[in-house]
Amino acid sequence: MKVTVVGAGAVGATCADNIARKELATELVLLDIKEGLAEGKAQDMMQTAALLGFDTKIVGSTNDYSKTAGSDVVVITSGLPRKPGMTREELIGTNAGIVKGVAENILKYSPNAILIIISNPMDTMTYLALSATGLPKNKIIGMGGALDSARFKYQLSQHLGASPSDLNGIVVGGHGDTTMIPLIRIATWNSIPVTSLLSEEKQKQIVADTMVGGATLTKLIGTSAWYAPGAAGAALVESIVRDEKKLITCCVKLDGEYGQKDICLGVPVIIGRNGWEKIVDLELNEEEQALFNKSADAVRSMNDVLKTL
Ligand code: LAC
Repeated sequence: MKVTVVGAGAVGATCADNIARKELATELVLLDIKEGLAEGKAQDMMQTAALLGFDTKIVGSTNDYSKTAGSDVVVITSGLPRKPGMTREELIGTNAGIVKGVAENILKYSPNAILIIISNPMDTMTYLALSATGLPKNKIIGMGGALDSARFKYQLSQHLGASPSDLNGIVVGGHGDTTMIPLIRIATWNSIPVTSLLSEEKQKQIVADTMVGGATLTKLIGTSAWYAPGAAGAALVESIVRDEKKLITCCVKLDGEYGQKDICLGVPVIIGRNGWEKIVDLELNEEEQALFNKSADAVRSMNDVLKTL
């Protein structure tokens, strides 16, 4: 398997590091526009191979897309990250041009690649990648829900004193501070509904803290987070290259599922060798569906901004 990660910033490099450690690829290309950055980080990571014992070959490239030729999976992290106080949506003007250019360059050399989109605003960038490339919808996957669901489990684990990996919980809708919907009603701790263990007040707090999970970190660190975003990208790569059929919440094109169409939004999907293979169209209650529709409205108006750029 050959995997490319575009963008050697903190998120891209962390994603690449996870991919290498797990040996998800025989060859891993890290590409960045900044002279020497990808080569340097690739070499630094290769120097961990003897210590960590992995055999993935990592190659760095300064904007030479020919090195990415024949990639099976490509993770796109390019673009500006958030600064404190900034919303993901404010990045659209800059990142739209970058993501479109990257997707086109990638497909020149890897026409069969599955694309994973991490760049923000993620839902709109996923929609843009789909419309700009004309790829089959199953080959374009936005990472947001995978990350937000991991953050949801983290919040639950803190309040329950539970192991995060014992928790089940998904966050659907958009990957924005006000558009994501942590579905606490169906979250469980090893099959036990968390709603039976937490007061209403605690549940509300967990949902609210999950929604601003990214913003909280941006404030603390001074820029966007990278460990969990990078690991979430790598988890998607893993389910694809190993054909694991994991059920992961991701941003995908909806054609009537969840009552929406002509939009990419976070819903639970099965991820395997063909990209996202099936949407699990679960029934939301009235309140959740209303939130989902509101989230779709917000993402749709962001998608409309693409037409003005
Ligand atoms: C975050 C960025 C990656 O949520 O959107 O940290």
